[in-house]
Amino acid sequence: MTRRLTLPDAPSSGTDRRMSAPSARRNMAPILEVLHTHAPAEGRALEIAAGTGEHAVAFSRAFPGLDWQPTDLDPDRLASIEAWRQAEGPANLRPPQNLNAATPGWHTTHGPADMILLVNLLHLIADAEAEAVLTGIAQALAPGGKAFLYGPFLRNGETTSEGDAAFHASLQAQDTAIGYKDIAWVRDRLSPLRTETVEMPSNNLIIIVGAN
Ligand SMILES: C[S@@+](CC[C@H](N)C(=O)[O-])C[C@H]1O[C@@H](n2cnc3c(N)ncnc32)[C@H](O)[C@@H]1O
Repeated sequence: MTRRLTLPDAPSSGTDRRMSAPSARRNMAPILEVLHTHAPAEGRALEIAAGTGEHAVAFSRAFPGLDWQPTDLDPDRLASIEAWRQAEGPANLRPPQNLNAATPGWHTTHGPADMILLVNLLHLIADAEAEAVLTGIAQALAPGGKAFLYGPFLRNGETTSEGDAAFHASLQAQDTAIGYKDIAWVRDRLSPLRTETVEMPSNNLIIIVGAN
């Protein structure tokens, strides 16, 4: 399901189909730093909810040994990813594919992947959808693969700043089913896969999921 949410930092378009999201520009370098330390150098990378495509271009360029597959479900985002790819994409960046990662069973068509990246989706969807996304990620990871889940999370059921409390409340005001997920809830959904959390700027986290 595609929700029309009012979000801070909504992406804007230029003269072609390329969109730009301030949040993607801001978190690109910190995410890249974590990927440089933990991501595999080679193999197949699947990016879920790739959005504008700015991450896809930057990260595929930084990892020339990864065959980078961006995906999203929104036609405008898919067009933006393709426009970025044609303008600036390296050879290892594939044309975007349509993927609703909340549809159970998607791993059979989009997996396996040695690396999976998901940035800023889980808080925008309902628990049941997030559970399907996480189950699909666990099923799509190749043996020895790693997934990286970036975003804001609850810790012991609590937000960690006034800004996060306000954003979580604004999401729930738009749709009571959505909002920040708790780290423990996410970990439970991924069990028995190992997880590790890395603190990121602005109270965000990356949950690194390492396949057994
Ligand atoms: C806040 S944006 C994040 C985009 C990008 N990852 C970034 O950090 O800039 C959320 C994205 O999730 C996509 N999306 C929403 N529901 C989805 C789903 N069920 N499966 C895959 N993508 C989804 C939206 O189309 C949008 O591009």
